[in-house]
Amino acid sequence: MKFESSIQFAKKLDSQDPLRSFRNKFHLPKINGKTSIYFTGNSLGLLPKSTKKFVDEELNDWAKLGVEGHFHSKRPWLHYHKFSKKALSKIVGAKPSEVVAMNQLTVNLHLFMVSFYRPTKTRFKILTEAGAFSSDQYAFESQVKFHGLDPEKTIIELAPREGEYALRTEDIIKAIEENKNELALIIFGAVQYYSGQFFDLEKITKAGHEAGAIVGFDLAHAIGNVPLQLHKHEVDFAVWCGYKYLNSGPGGLAGAFVHEMHENNSNLPRFAGWWGHNDKERFQMKKGFKPMEGIDGWQVSNFPVLSGAAQLASLEIFDEAGGNNLRQKSILLTGYLEFLLKSIENNQEYFSIITPSYKKERGCQLSLLMRKNGKKVFDIITKAGVIADWREPDVIRVAPVPLYNTFEEVFLFSRIFQNALR
Ligand SMILES: Cc1ncc(COP(=O)(O)O)c(C=O)c1O
Repeated sequence: MKFESSIQFAKKLDSQDPLRSFRNKFHLPKINGKTSIYFTGNSLGLLPKSTKKFVDEELNDWAKLGVEGHFHSKRPWLHYHKFSKKALSKIVGAKPSEVVAMNQLTVNLHLFMVSFYRPTKTRFKILTEAGAFSSDQYAFESQVKFHGLDPEKTIIELAPREGEYALRTEDIIKAIEENKNELALIIFGAVQYYSGQFFDLEKITKAGHEAGAIVGFDLAHAIGNVPLQLHKHEVDFAVWCGYKYLNSGPGGLAGAFVHEMHENNSNLPRFAGWWGHNDKERFQMKKGFKPMEGIDGWQVSNFPVLSGAAQLASLEIFDEAGGNNLRQKSILLTGYLEFLLKSIENNQEYFSIITPSYKKERGCQLSLLMRKNGKKVFDIITKAGVIADWREPDVIRVAPVPLYNTFEEVFLFSRIFQNALR
């Protein structure tokens, strides 16, 4: 599409947007009484108006039924993990039996590293992207130490080439081949939280498997943002959080995927709990853990129903909007933002967009590396009503989200940002 830099053009795109009514399904935060330009769905997704109804239903059932709600509530609490399976499986490209909502992201990362990071004397290394999110780094480091290994000699952090901000797929494949006899696990953030780069999951997984390694992904910035095909691409495992693009609320319910090829592998070690135990016998309280088939067997504790209810509200919206429609709009919305930012006179003097320009290599986020006065610019745009995200030392991340952001907001943001530069 040929973009134009005018408010009329932005409004025209909004009027043609088949998803334009979805914005009304969300509460939009205000700054000084005025609706903000909320470009931080990559940090905390907005509250769907329907969430209150979903949570209230559980509160009412709790009030009415007490413990009996486990069996007799509208959505019986005993089976709550099942109610999100269909929607989650569509979002990550999996079978319902391969996904489950549970815990928090880093907890899930640990649980799956326990099962899938099984270092031996010769095959013990982990390959990941340099500058992975801190919590992931701490998880990798502590898991490596747990096995009595030295993180320095075990974790390979792959950085982009000198002067570049994104990793080239060919360089990732090369690193896999170079380390093929020693690699135990390859784990990347599917969308890199800082740069916004969307990695080629298919190629990385294929190369990883050819090298004899297990391949997992952290989908924190990918789920609900970019198209995923975890089953088809034979990814071994993946973990995610629910509070970003999935709009499940602060500290919202996370989740995980395990490919069905591992479904019945009872040799995989795991840290078990009663909610992963064969549900036919769960309440017999017997000795001897027998996991349920598939990913359900990785559950540990009983299900957090109130967080789960909040997530169901958002998943219903995703289902209604449709993954393809969301992606189509997202490509246009972020493409328009990129066009407007690149139209700013002498833009290179002030900032560089470090997120890849190619649509297959990014989701909705653009990361702006500020060449001067980054924090000052950020403070000015915040005062002007933009909620964006500052990442030390010098990046402003902006993420127009197709479910609730508009082309007009993208246009207004570009003007506010341009004025703040000078
Ligand atoms: C890539 C990534 N990993 C891990 C985390 C932390 O996850 P949690 O606190 O939900 O365990 C985040 C949080 O933003 C993240 O973006």
